Amino acid sequence: MASANLNVMIKAARKAGRSLVKDFREVENLQVSVKGAGDFVTRADREAERVIKEELRAARPNYGWLGEETGEDAGEDPTRRWIVDPLDGTTNFLHGLPHWAISIALEHKGEIVAAVVYDAAKDEMFTAEKGDGAFMNNQRIRVSGRRQMIESIFATGVPFGGRGTLPATLADLARLMPMTAGVRRWGAAALDLAYVASGRYDGYWERGINAWDVAAGILLVKEAGGFVESIRSEENPVTSGNIVAGNALLFPQFAEIIRERPEPRKA
Ligand code: IPD
Repeated sequence: MASANLNVMIKAARKAGRSLVKDFREVENLQVSVKGAGDFVTRADREAERVIKEELRAARPNYGWLGEETGEDAGEDPTRRWIVDPLDGTTNFLHGLPHWAISIALEHKGEIVAAVVYDAAKDEMFTAEKGDGAFMNNQRIRVSGRRQMIESIFATGVPFGGRGTLPATLADLARLMPMTAGVRRWGAAALDLAYVASGRYDGYWERGINAWDVAAGILLVKEAGGFVESIRSEENPVTSGNIVAGNALLFPQFAEIIRERPEPRKA
Protein backbone atom coordinates (compact mmCIF):
# COMPACT_ATOMS: atom_id res chain seq x y z
CA MET A 1 0.00 0.00 0.00
CA ALA A 2 1.23 3.47 -0.90
CA SER A 3 2.48 5.60 2.01
CA ALA A 4 0.87 8.95 2.85
CA ASN A 5 3.84 10.72 1.23
CA LEU A 6 3.49 8.77 -2.01
CA ASN A 7 -0.24 9.55 -2.12
CA VAL A 8 0.53 13.26 -1.74
CA MET A 9 3.05 13.02 -4.60
CA ILE A 10 0.58 11.17 -6.86
CA LYS A 11 -2.13 13.77 -6.14
CA ALA A 12 0.24 16.64 -6.98
CA ALA A 13 1.38 14.92 -10.20
CA ARG A 14 -2.20 14.30 -11.35
CA LYS A 15 -3.19 17.89 -10.66
CA ALA A 16 -0.18 19.27 -12.56
CA GLY A 17 -0.83 16.68 -15.29
CA ARG A 18 -4.34 18.03 -15.88
CA SER A 19 -2.96 21.54 -16.23
CA LEU A 20 -0.21 20.41 -18.64
CA VAL A 21 -2.55 18.29 -20.79
CA LYS A 22 -4.81 21.32 -21.20
CA ASP A 23 -1.84 23.47 -22.25
CA PHE A 24 -0.47 20.70 -24.48
CA ARG A 25 -3.65 20.86 -26.58
CA GLU A 26 -3.07 24.55 -27.13
CA VAL A 27 0.67 24.38 -27.40
CA GLU A 28 0.81 26.87 -30.24
CA ASN A 29 -0.71 29.53 -27.95
CA LEU A 30 1.99 29.24 -25.29
CA GLN A 31 4.16 32.24 -24.62
CA VAL A 32 7.65 30.87 -25.03
CA SER A 33 10.67 32.56 -23.52
CA VAL A 34 14.12 31.33 -24.49
CA LYS A 35 16.27 30.23 -21.52
CA GLY A 36 19.29 29.09 -23.50
CA ALA A 37 20.11 27.35 -26.77
CA GLY A 38 16.97 25.36 -27.45
CA ASP A 39 15.98 25.33 -23.80
CA PHE A 40 12.57 26.84 -23.25
CA VAL A 41 10.59 27.73 -20.24
CA THR A 42 6.92 28.00 -20.93
CA ARG A 43 4.02 29.27 -18.96
CA ALA A 44 3.07 25.59 -18.69
CA ASP A 45 6.30 24.62 -16.84
CA ARG A 46 5.89 27.43 -14.36
CA GLU A 47 2.22 26.77 -13.74
CA ALA A 48 2.88 23.03 -13.24
CA GLU A 49 5.67 23.75 -10.74
CA ARG A 50 3.41 26.20 -8.89
CA VAL A 51 0.64 23.56 -8.65
CA ILE A 52 3.05 20.85 -7.43
CA LYS A 53 4.73 23.14 -4.88
CA GLU A 54 1.38 24.28 -3.52
CA GLU A 55 0.13 20.69 -3.09
CA LEU A 56 3.35 19.36 -1.53
CA ARG A 57 3.84 22.39 0.72
CA ALA A 58 0.24 22.20 1.98
CA ALA A 59 0.73 18.56 2.97
CA ARG A 60 4.35 18.78 4.26
CA PRO A 61 5.11 22.43 5.08
CA ASN A 62 8.51 21.73 6.66
CA TYR A 63 10.18 19.77 3.82
CA GLY A 64 12.85 21.40 1.65
CA TRP A 65 12.52 21.93 -2.10
CA LEU A 66 14.61 21.69 -5.28
CA GLY A 67 12.69 22.47 -8.46
CA GLU A 68 13.82 23.09 -12.04
CA GLU A 69 11.99 26.41 -12.34
CA THR A 70 12.12 27.81 -8.79
CA GLY A 71 15.47 26.46 -7.54
CA GLU A 72 16.40 25.49 -4.01
CA ASP A 73 14.55 26.32 -0.85
CA ALA A 74 15.69 24.86 2.49
CA GLY A 75 12.87 23.65 4.70
CA GLU A 76 12.68 23.51 8.49
CA ASP A 77 13.36 19.78 8.24
CA PRO A 78 16.92 19.59 6.85
CA THR A 79 16.68 15.81 6.32
CA ARG A 80 13.89 15.82 3.74
CA ARG A 81 13.37 17.57 0.43
CA TRP A 82 11.30 17.26 -2.71
CA ILE A 83 13.21 17.17 -6.00
CA VAL A 84 10.87 18.19 -8.83
CA ASP A 85 10.90 18.61 -12.58
CA PRO A 86 7.40 19.87 -13.43
CA LEU A 87 7.91 19.19 -17.15
CA ASP A 88 10.71 16.91 -18.23
CA GLY A 89 10.82 16.94 -22.02
CA THR A 90 9.92 20.62 -22.49
CA THR A 91 11.13 20.67 -26.08
CA ASN A 92 8.95 17.67 -26.99
CA PHE A 93 6.01 19.42 -25.32
CA LEU A 94 6.60 22.58 -27.33
CA HIS A 95 6.71 20.64 -30.57
CA GLY A 96 3.50 18.76 -29.86
CA LEU A 97 5.33 15.45 -29.28
CA PRO A 98 3.46 13.46 -26.60
CA HIS A 99 6.61 12.36 -24.75
CA TRP A 100 7.10 14.39 -21.58
CA ALA A 101 6.53 13.81 -17.88
CA ILE A 102 6.27 15.21 -14.40
CA SER A 103 8.99 13.96 -12.07
CA ILE A 104 8.71 14.15 -8.26
CA ALA A 105 11.18 12.53 -5.83
CA LEU A 106 11.37 12.60 -2.06
CA GLU A 107 14.88 12.58 -0.66
CA HIS A 108 15.52 11.62 2.99
CA LYS A 109 19.02 12.01 4.44
CA GLY A 110 20.51 12.13 0.95
CA GLU A 111 18.67 9.05 -0.32
CA ILE A 112 15.64 8.91 -2.65
CA VAL A 113 12.84 7.11 -0.78
CA ALA A 114 9.75 7.77 -2.94
CA ALA A 115 9.30 8.53 -6.62
CA VAL A 116 6.63 9.48 -9.12
CA VAL A 117 7.12 9.89 -12.88
CA TYR A 118 3.81 10.73 -14.53
CA ASP A 119 3.39 10.61 -18.32
CA ALA A 120 0.15 12.59 -18.37
CA ALA A 121 -0.34 12.45 -22.16
CA LYS A 122 -0.46 8.62 -22.02
CA ASP A 123 -1.80 8.47 -18.47
CA GLU A 124 1.07 6.25 -17.30
CA MET A 125 1.84 6.73 -13.61
CA PHE A 126 5.18 5.20 -12.56
CA THR A 127 5.70 5.00 -8.79
CA ALA A 128 8.18 3.50 -6.34
CA GLU A 129 9.03 3.53 -2.67
CA LYS A 130 12.27 2.26 -1.19
CA GLY A 131 11.94 -1.44 -0.42
CA ASP A 132 8.43 -1.76 -1.91
CA GLY A 133 9.07 -2.32 -5.62
CA ALA A 134 8.15 -0.25 -8.66
CA PHE A 135 4.76 0.06 -10.36
CA MET A 136 3.08 1.46 -13.45
CA ASN A 137 -0.61 2.24 -12.97
CA ASN A 138 -0.51 -0.01 -9.88
CA GLN A 139 0.92 -3.00 -11.79
CA ARG A 140 4.34 -4.26 -10.67
CA ILE A 141 7.11 -3.50 -13.18
CA ARG A 142 10.54 -5.07 -13.56
CA VAL A 143 13.61 -4.38 -15.65
CA SER A 144 14.08 -6.56 -18.74
CA GLY A 145 15.75 -9.95 -18.63
CA ARG A 146 17.71 -9.48 -21.84
CA ARG A 147 21.27 -10.81 -21.67
CA GLN A 148 22.68 -10.01 -25.09
CA MET A 149 23.72 -6.52 -26.15
CA ILE A 150 22.73 -7.30 -29.75
CA GLU A 151 19.09 -7.80 -28.81
CA SER A 152 18.92 -4.81 -26.46
CA ILE A 153 17.81 -1.19 -26.87
CA PHE A 154 19.48 1.68 -25.03
CA ALA A 155 18.54 5.32 -24.59
CA THR A 156 20.58 8.44 -24.09
CA GLY A 157 20.19 12.20 -24.03
CA VAL A 158 22.27 15.20 -24.94
CA PRO A 159 21.81 18.37 -22.91
CA PHE A 160 20.81 21.52 -24.74
CA GLY A 161 23.72 22.85 -26.75
CA GLY A 162 25.77 19.74 -25.90
CA ARG A 163 27.34 21.42 -22.82
CA GLY A 164 30.69 19.89 -23.74
CA THR A 165 29.36 16.33 -23.56
CA LEU A 166 28.69 15.80 -27.26
CA PRO A 167 32.07 14.33 -28.34
CA ALA A 168 31.97 11.67 -25.61
CA THR A 169 28.33 10.81 -26.37
CA LEU A 170 29.07 10.52 -30.10
CA ALA A 171 31.97 8.18 -29.28
CA ASP A 172 29.59 6.13 -27.07
CA LEU A 173 27.14 5.89 -29.99
CA ALA A 174 29.84 4.82 -32.44
CA ARG A 175 30.79 2.01 -30.07
CA LEU A 176 27.27 0.94 -29.03
CA MET A 177 25.20 1.18 -32.19
CA PRO A 178 26.85 -1.66 -34.11
CA MET A 179 26.71 -4.01 -31.11
CA THR A 180 23.09 -3.39 -30.00
CA ALA A 181 19.55 -3.42 -31.41
CA GLY A 182 19.61 0.37 -31.30
CA VAL A 183 19.96 3.59 -29.35
CA ARG A 184 17.07 6.03 -28.83
CA ARG A 185 17.14 9.73 -27.93
CA TRP A 186 13.56 10.62 -27.03
CA GLY A 187 14.17 13.77 -24.99
CA ALA A 188 12.79 13.06 -21.51
CA ALA A 189 15.29 11.59 -19.05
CA ALA A 190 12.66 10.77 -16.41
CA LEU A 191 10.85 8.61 -18.97
CA ASP A 192 14.12 7.06 -20.18
CA LEU A 193 14.61 5.76 -16.62
CA ALA A 194 10.94 4.77 -16.23
CA TYR A 195 11.27 2.77 -19.46
CA VAL A 196 14.37 0.98 -18.15
CA ALA A 197 12.39 0.20 -14.98
CA SER A 198 9.51 -1.25 -17.02
CA GLY A 199 11.76 -3.28 -19.34
CA ARG A 200 10.97 -1.25 -22.47
CA TYR A 201 14.58 -0.13 -22.67
CA ASP A 202 17.46 -2.30 -21.46
CA GLY A 203 19.71 0.58 -20.43
CA TYR A 204 20.18 4.36 -20.40
CA TRP A 205 23.08 6.73 -19.93
CA GLU A 206 23.53 10.48 -20.11
CA ARG A 207 26.43 12.88 -19.70
CA GLY A 208 25.41 16.30 -18.34
CA ILE A 209 22.09 15.81 -16.54
CA ASN A 210 20.37 17.57 -13.63
CA ALA A 211 19.18 16.07 -10.33
CA TRP A 212 15.52 16.95 -11.02
CA ASP A 213 15.61 15.02 -14.34
CA VAL A 214 16.81 11.75 -12.76
CA ALA A 215 16.04 11.68 -9.00
CA ALA A 216 12.67 9.89 -9.28
CA GLY A 217 13.70 7.65 -12.18
CA ILE A 218 16.73 6.35 -10.26
CA LEU A 219 14.51 4.87 -7.55
CA LEU A 220 12.16 3.38 -10.18
CA VAL A 221 15.05 1.47 -11.79
CA LYS A 222 16.48 0.26 -8.47
CA GLU A 223 13.08 -0.88 -7.19
CA ALA A 224 12.44 -2.65 -10.51
CA GLY A 225 15.62 -4.72 -9.98
CA GLY A 226 18.03 -2.69 -12.12
CA PHE A 227 21.33 -0.96 -11.43
CA VAL A 228 21.99 2.78 -11.52
CA GLU A 229 25.33 4.44 -10.93
CA SER A 230 27.19 7.60 -11.79
CA ILE A 231 29.58 7.23 -14.73
CA ARG A 232 32.24 8.03 -12.11
CA SER A 233 31.14 5.08 -10.00
CA GLU A 234 32.11 6.52 -6.60
CA GLU A 235 29.77 9.51 -7.00
CA ASN A 236 26.04 9.84 -6.24
CA PRO A 237 24.13 9.50 -9.55
CA VAL A 238 21.42 11.91 -8.34
CA THR A 239 23.82 14.83 -8.02
CA SER A 240 26.90 13.93 -10.08
CA GLY A 241 25.45 15.17 -13.38
CA ASN A 242 25.99 11.90 -15.24
CA ILE A 243 24.37 8.50 -15.09
CA VAL A 244 24.39 4.93 -16.35
CA ALA A 245 21.48 2.53 -15.71
CA GLY A 246 20.47 -0.89 -16.93
CA ASN A 247 19.06 -4.29 -16.23
CA ALA A 248 21.17 -6.30 -13.80
CA LEU A 249 22.40 -8.76 -16.45
CA LEU A 250 23.70 -6.23 -18.95
CA PHE A 251 24.78 -3.48 -16.58
CA PRO A 252 28.41 -4.59 -16.00
CA GLN A 253 29.18 -4.83 -19.73
CA PHE A 254 27.21 -1.70 -20.64
CA ALA A 255 28.72 0.42 -17.84
CA GLU A 256 32.23 -0.71 -18.79
CA ILE A 257 31.71 0.58 -22.33
CA ILE A 258 30.40 3.96 -21.10
CA ARG A 259 33.29 4.21 -18.62
CA GLU A 260 35.83 3.94 -21.41
CA ARG A 261 35.29 7.72 -21.55
CA PRO A 262 35.26 8.73 -17.87
CA GLU A 263 33.55 11.93 -16.80
CA PRO A 264 35.70 14.68 -15.32
CA ARG A 265 35.39 15.09 -11.55
CA LYS A 266 32.79 17.73 -10.62
CA ALA A 267 34.37 20.99 -9.42
C1 IPD B 1 15.89 17.52 -20.55
C2 IPD B 1 15.44 16.14 -20.97
C3 IPD B 1 16.38 15.55 -22.02
C4 IPD B 1 17.81 15.51 -21.53
C5 IPD B 1 18.25 16.90 -21.09
C6 IPD B 1 17.31 17.46 -20.03
P1 IPD B 1 14.00 19.25 -19.63
O1 IPD B 1 15.07 17.99 -19.48
O2 IPD B 1 15.37 15.27 -19.87
O3 IPD B 1 16.03 14.21 -22.33
O4 IPD B 1 18.64 15.02 -22.57
O5 IPD B 1 19.57 16.76 -20.54
O6 IPD B 1 17.74 18.76 -19.68
O7 IPD B 1 14.85 20.47 -19.81
O8 IPD B 1 13.15 18.95 -20.80
O9 IPD B 1 13.30 19.24 -18.32
